[in-house]
Amino acid sequence: MSIQSAPHTHTEAPHTLQTGIGVDTPQDTVVHAVDGIEEYDNRLPNWWLFTFYAAIAFGVVYYFHYQMLGGETSIAAYEREMQPVWAAEAARLRAAGAVTPAMLQALSRDQRIVAEGQSLYTSNCVSCHSATGGGGIGANLTDSFWIHGGRADQIYRTVTSGVTNKGMPAWGAQLGVERTQAVVAYVLTLRNTNAPGGRSAQGTREE
Ligand code: HEC
Repeated sequence: MSIQSAPHTHTEAPHTLQTGIGVDTPQDTVVHAVDGIEEYDNRLPNWWLFTFYAAIAFGVVYYFHYQMLGGETSIAAYEREMQPVWAAEAARLRAAGAVTPAMLQALSRDQRIVAEGQSLYTSNCVSCHSATGGGGIGANLTDSFWIHGGRADQIYRTVTSGVTNKGMPAWGAQLGVERTQAVVAYVLTLRNTNAPGGRSAQGTREE
């Protein structure tokens, strides 16, 4: 008994195998040939085209969500989630009584206190320091230069006692302790924001 195998034809085999993706089929055209190396103009595989167009669509959606529609960034989401923790920390340090840099920093992360400080700033400070904090009659509060020190406790001392011979009123007695703390908490959020058109630097540079 013998098995009669068909004679192997090399001409047939390529056509049956070349139904896959990216292999040359008879309809492919050679677009370049240099030194016997041929470049074909093959149809791009569907999986490749799919990821290509999906990446473009994702990019468009991403751009509109974050750049145009104000989608929440991961930093903003983190700050929102941390709010209860920071507010509790601020309340704890405030209850402890001592006005320390850490306590004022904690207040500046508590959105409720910062909002209170902002409205106090709007009614008491804007006339001399401008709405952006860029300064005018008063110093620029958004740069990294400070006449009387840029540390939280130094700013608190300046706002409380003022610099009356230079035209900066003392706010401590007028606003009281809690509201002075709140307005300082707001001022701390302005530091190093470099409001456009702000008054030129005065004092020494601090980071
Ligand atoms: C009548 C104008 C005036 C008002 C109102 C005013 N300031 Fe000032 N402020 C000044 C002037 C002027 C200076 C600069 C003092 C100097 O040259 O030493 C100053 C300086 C400061 C500084 C120190 C800046 C530095 O570089 O060290 C802080 C902080 C400050 N003001 C916060 C406030 C806050 C907060 C309020 C509102 C509660 C306020 N100021 C309201 C005029 C004002």
